[in-house]
Amino acid sequence: MSIVSPSVLSCDFANVQRDVEMINASKADWFHIDVMDGVFVPNISFGFPVIKAINRHATKPLDVHIMIVNPDQYVEEFAKCGTHILTVHYEACTHLHRTVQLIKSHGMKAGVALNPHTPVSALENVLSDLDLVLIMSVNPGFGGQKFIPGAVEKVRQLREMIDASGSQVIIEVDGGVNLDTGQQLIEAGADALVAGSFVFKSDDPAQTIHDLKNL
Ligand code: DX5
Ligand code: ZN
Repeated sequence: MSIVSPSVLSCDFANVQRDVEMINASKADWFHIDVMDGVFVPNISFGFPVIKAINRHATKPLDVHIMIVNPDQYVEEFAKCGTHILTVHYEACTHLHRTVQLIKSHGMKAGVALNPHTPVSALENVLSDLDLVLIMSVNPGFGGQKFIPGAVEKVRQLREMIDASGSQVIIEVDGGVNLDTGQQLIEAGADALVAGSFVFKSDDPAQTIHDLKNL
């Protein structure tokens, strides 16, 4: 049984409440919320008012993935929006250790995302401080992209690092996840799967979440 975090980026923004309630009623574990600033990634998604609106209806934890520069500046505001897990990008943090402590000081779980080109070894000296590592299996910025197969090997390497350290860090994977790629990732040692277009473009999103959950 994996953790499933449907990405709200692919929902129908004219019917956010309806889609949030679908996730509430489904087997999903978390809400994956992608915040993009048009600087760190070449796209802009949504900000605090939308997260607050989601949080008014969501009955499951908010798993917030921020693809923004200067994340420290906004950590407090994300906490106020009801964020449970706040994941920043390794590539956007000059003082990652400080950022991680800041996230925790606001009562949130701390995650770090790695772009496809960043090796898992980059996290060696901060791993014991983390609650979650997000392996990007696409270049961040857009939903509906093709899965980059090298992510599977990165999950395997990270699983070894975590097991060797005896820590309980969650491995989450984001981008191009479907039943096939999801299966490969779970076999490699992933704990949590993010899925956007695969869920929301399917005929029966709640069933698709159920199928991912059973991988
Ligand atoms: C991409 C986002 C993802 C995106 C995944 O930058 O981080 O969470 O919503 O979408 P799919 O599952 O369609 O690749
Ligand atoms: Zn994401």
